[in-house]
Amino acid sequence: MRLGIISALAEEQEGLIDAMQGAVTLTHGMRDYTTGKLWNIDTVAVLSRIGKVAGAMTAATLVEKFGVTHIVFTGVAGSADFAVRVGDVVVAEALVQHDMDASPLFPRFEVPLTGLTRLPTDLDLSRQLAAAARRYLDEEQSRPQLHRGTIGSGDQFINDSVRIAALKDALPDLLAVEMEGAAVAQVCFELNIPFAVIRTISDNANEEAATDFMHFVKTVASRYAFGILREFCAT
Ligand code: ADE
Repeated sequence: MRLGIISALAEEQEGLIDAMQGAVTLTHGMRDYTTGKLWNIDTVAVLSRIGKVAGAMTAATLVEKFGVTHIVFTGVAGSADFAVRVGDVVVAEALVQHDMDASPLFPRFEVPLTGLTRLPTDLDLSRQLAAAARRYLDEEQSRPQLHRGTIGSGDQFINDSVRIAALKDALPDLLAVEMEGAAVAQVCFELNIPFAVIRTISDNANEEAATDFMHFVKTVASRYAFGILREFCAT
């Protein structure tokens, strides 16, 4: 196994590079890919930056240039469901490109010519990641909840309660929204690479989202990502 670990922002991956043994960094396409052993797993860690194209480019490069066999995306997301609270963690079962709309040629949300609306994650990898998250979160004082389900991705930071409600109406199984996961999902689907997405909830995608997001990524996001990935890689 050679594991690719993608996060959009530095705060979502803090500490990971320092924990790598024999880390070597190679810059390609304006991104730094750091290869090394992370708790005994051969790993390539990279920051994608924000958005679907950035995520897709990074995932394709990880596979084609760095030879990764599996990909995990870690980061933060906005909640799309009242039961999913700030500080909770969501492991994706499937991802939707919520801004994809080629109707009337194809149904809204369907990725044209793939026949897919919900891009599935790898069951084994997601199970292992969820188990690692559960072990880590059980130690947390605030007792965050772990959820599994559908995550939506689009090239929009959602900070509008009407907009998030409309998306939830259109996609009732939606648990969270972010800006890269479903793009990585499409690349991994097309290249047949098992992948998983884990997101800590930073905000409620409403009018307070930007403030909550800024505060949360600085305080909690990196600590969770590091702790969960250590559980995942070390066991
Ligand atoms: N990532 C974290 N919060 C988000 C939001 N509200 N919209 C899109 N991506 C996010």
